[in-house]
Amino acid sequence: MTTKFDKIVCIGGAGFVGRGIIQQFKAVAQHIVVIDNMRTALREKEELQYVDIIESDIRDLNEDWSRAIRGADLVIHLAANIDTPWSVKYMHEDFSINTLGTRNVVSACITADIPKILYASSAAVYGAVTEDRLPITEQIYPEPASPYAKSKLQGEIEVLAGARTYGYTAHCLRMFNIYGPWESPGTLDEVLLYTLYALRNQEISIFGEPENQIRDYVSVKDVARAFMLAAESSRSGAFAYNICTGKGTNFAQLLQVIEEVTGIKPKTQILPLRPGELTKSWGLYDKAKEIINYQHQIEIKQGVKEMVDWIKVAPEKVLNMYSLSTR
Ligand SMILES: NC(=O)c1ccc[n+]([C@@H]2O[C@H](COP(=O)([O-])OP(=O)(O)OC[C@H]3O[C@@H](n4cnc5c(N)ncnc54)[C@H](O)[C@@H]3O)[C@@H](O)[C@H]2O)c1
Repeated sequence: MTTKFDKIVCIGGAGFVGRGIIQQFKAVAQHIVVIDNMRTALREKEELQYVDIIESDIRDLNEDWSRAIRGADLVIHLAANIDTPWSVKYMHEDFSINTLGTRNVVSACITADIPKILYASSAAVYGAVTEDRLPITEQIYPEPASPYAKSKLQGEIEVLAGARTYGYTAHCLRMFNIYGPWESPGTLDEVLLYTLYALRNQEISIFGEPENQIRDYVSVKDVARAFMLAAESSRSGAFAYNICTGKGTNFAQLLQVIEEVTGIKPKTQILPLRPGELTKSWGLYDKAKEIINYQHQIEIKQGVKEMVDWIKVAPEKVLNMYSLSTR
């Protein structure tokens, strides 16, 4: 084993994306520390046994977790509320976790003299992009349209401005719709839900015409690889770029792929589009290609196959947490 990193700290690393990152880094990092308040984390994940977990809340800049950051080669910051409807209801709490929490992370990293921060940003920062401006590139001016999108953009600004002021390197990965095993119940996407419902022969409620609902689904494995590339990159500076597949998949195409993979025709009912619901979103990742040499590898059919394989072995208790009605 070639160890590339002595110590990596992953804040929010007990969550869905965190699991993918632990899998990706465990072979190349001597020591992985996860700082997480376990708010949405599913403790059943076996990957958590490879790491030291410090149960702390980033809203409280205390000694325990800020000391744990010391000596890290890099800090990966994933901790956030990622539930948009919740952010609308509890905008102060969302701001406190995502923006003020990120400021605390940046402050702890500056004190500990951490050379690099990787921040999990989101394509949500762009807002509801009109069709004439698709596909989404970083040239589009961000117009966040929810407290979640706003607080993620504010977090980005904290991380990037800190890099320019204090000299560490920052990468903000603006990720599109991530899917894969072990999603946290608050982060559910159509790939997991539709596959699960098809396998259970349950009716899938689709909001809006399936052909008109387009997303850029990126596998958590590609996302974790992007973090690895950013970690390995020798470039210094402050960067923000898209992580996606460069392809839109509409709901009808997704259902078709699920049918091909499972051999089951999903039962569906079409309901009217809900207010504020996103209709079309997909992006280009040329900037990530240029900065970290990122190239997505997993196409949707392979991703659905991997989802089916996981659903077959996943604990029933975990699968029972996933429901279309909670979206
Ligand atoms: N899942 C997606 O589709 C998606 C898309 C774009 C961006 N992102 C971003 O990626 C990151 C990870 O998302 P995820 O899907 O893994 O979500 P997740 O909810 O599974 O993981 C977030 C983790 O942060 C922890 N956490 C929350 N509040 C905390 C606090 N105050 N202090 C310490 N820990 C706290 C949670 O317990 C959880 O383990 C988030 O920053 C999210 O905004 C996710």
